[in-house]
Amino acid sequence: MRPTLRFVLCGSVDDGKSTVIGRLLYDCRQVFSDQMSRIERESARYGTQGRETDLALLVDGLRDEREQGITIDVAYKSFETPRRRFVVADAPGHEQYTRNMATGASTADLAVVLVDARKGILPQTARHTRIAVLFGVRHLVLAVNKMDLVLWDRGVFESIKARYHGVADEIGVTGFQAIPVSALTGDNLTRRSVSAPWYAGPTLLACLETVDVEEPAVGQPFRMPVQYVNRPDSDFRGYCGRVAAGEVAVGDAVRVSPAGPESRVESIVVWDGTCERAVKGESVALTLFPDVDVTRGDVVAAADAPVGVADQFQARLVWMHDDPLAVGRPYVMKLHAREIGASVTRIKHRLDVSNGSRLAASTLHLNDLGTVNLATDRPVPFAPFEESRKLGGFILIDRATNATAAAGTIRFPLMRAANVKWQNLDISKDIRSRLKLQQAQCVWLTGLSASGKSTIANLLDRRLTIEGRHTYLLDGDNVRHGLCRDLGFTEADRVENIRRVAEVARLMVDAGLIVIVSFISPFRSERDYARSLFESGEFIEVFVDASLEACAARDPKGLYAKAFRGEIKNFTGIDSPYQPPVHPDLQLDTEELSPEECADLLAERIEQELPLK
Ligand code: ADX
Repeated sequence: MRPTLRFVLCGSVDDGKSTVIGRLLYDCRQVFSDQMSRIERESARYGTQGRETDLALLVDGLRDEREQGITIDVAYKSFETPRRRFVVADAPGHEQYTRNMATGASTADLAVVLVDARKGILPQTARHTRIAVLFGVRHLVLAVNKMDLVLWDRGVFESIKARYHGVADEIGVTGFQAIPVSALTGDNLTRRSVSAPWYAGPTLLACLETVDVEEPAVGQPFRMPVQYVNRPDSDFRGYCGRVAAGEVAVGDAVRVSPAGPESRVESIVVWDGTCERAVKGESVALTLFPDVDVTRGDVVAAADAPVGVADQFQARLVWMHDDPLAVGRPYVMKLHAREIGASVTRIKHRLDVSNGSRLAASTLHLNDLGTVNLATDRPVPFAPFEESRKLGGFILIDRATNATAAAGTIRFPLMRAANVKWQNLDISKDIRSRLKLQQAQCVWLTGLSASGKSTIANLLDRRLTIEGRHTYLLDGDNVRHGLCRDLGFTEADRVENIRRVAEVARLMVDAGLIVIVSFISPFRSERDYARSLFESGEFIEVFVDASLEACAARDPKGLYAKAFRGEIKNFTGIDSPYQPPVHPDLQLDTEELSPEECADLLAERIEQELPLK
């Protein structure tokens, strides 16, 4: 099989990006004849100064179709020559498409940074280079396009190249290839230009064909994330995945992380039989002897060089979601074959991509790049992104919408993670609950301000206490006087408020109590996170439901009136959102039912859910 080079083309349509891609596709005979005849017709109609078929129409035509789908994605196109296959990521160049560029760069070996000879190096040139380098691109080509429009003036090319040297130095890039081209005429793209006899370097295609693609397999220790455990019968247990680094042979000693048991490779199974060894890039199933417990997302690695395992990291993120990053909010992290809970614990800084300066930030917005500390909800096997894109590149997914919130790269683990161990204690939750003759649980009331949460919570608390249960009531207003005194009502503060309360509720359930939590808790992600802290059946989500109009009419604290007058900012339901539960365990309509009736229904539900012992 011919090797594949993945590259990203950075630049804007004005720089001639579409023409470059179109020309490469055309010259490599990948243009379908029907697309060609349409383009020839349209070029004739719109005119291209009568010179060449306008190849930009080819790519732009494809892009139009793509953009109808609204999802701004990266368009990948492939073409080939006898020496290589190429996959080019065509990501729009404007600032609002930073996330697309980062996505394209994250799998690319090389970036072609395109500039217009008449304009030279622009701020966006540095931005594109920086993003490409941040997301692991190892080879850079500076293509100075539209050389025909400056009459192939060598001085113009050399001065642009010299200025780019400055940019590259500042970013820490050690080398790049500069090529003078004209995408419109094809000069130095796929064939040498007769107009630039002074240029002795390769054409763009020649450069793409010869740059070394793969990091060498030898010398790197073996790593393979397990994507799938194949167990067709009780005799066979194969761990399937693609070798991410190094090589492996039958008989090699390996270690499986994060649990860490050591074993040996008994056989290497491929699609048409077995083999003695496998190298980076190959998909295999390994059987181990002795067989150890391996699950999806574990990493099998050379025994003498196991992968790192940690639950706190410093990482770089490019934010991809319309909703800004909320520190403390639980996201789902996809790291190689693993899916785990993760949250940003701190934003170190935001990066100004045009000049590399670090800016203070309390959040990241769409297309922002930043460096953050990240905590995962359990230890994961990983490698720094610089060492391995496969084991160090990840995405964060928004729990509420399932959309990709960010793409990121692990810089290094934070060592404090390794120094804090979990202490096993003798007295368990079960023992504590039994002593109180009850089953511990968390009853979580969510709803608008004045929907009736506190009143119902108070009635339920009284009722359970009279029955001899051991309870505690955590109420929003009260907790905000102490533990959460430092928090206001911005989205970030509410996320942190709920995180703290959920953790406290868990400790109290661990102490054997029935905990009633009464907080607006407006966001689904945090309520889901709270639920995830408990065992199944231990958490009851109750939606205390009343319309905004009803709550505003009740207004026991006069807060709605103030909010309507603009005296309180970020008021839930007015200028801050409330996301009602989709499937609450219980919904109480407080416009229909009295607080007593609600408390009765709730008490009934609790008995049903977990019969008290
Ligand atoms: S939450 O959104 O973070 O869950 P929490 O339940 O702790 O809110 O606090 C809500 C209480 O704070 C309300 O019952 C109300 O008395 C008071 N409050 C003050 N300002 C606001 C505001 N901007 N939005 C909502 N509640 C507010």
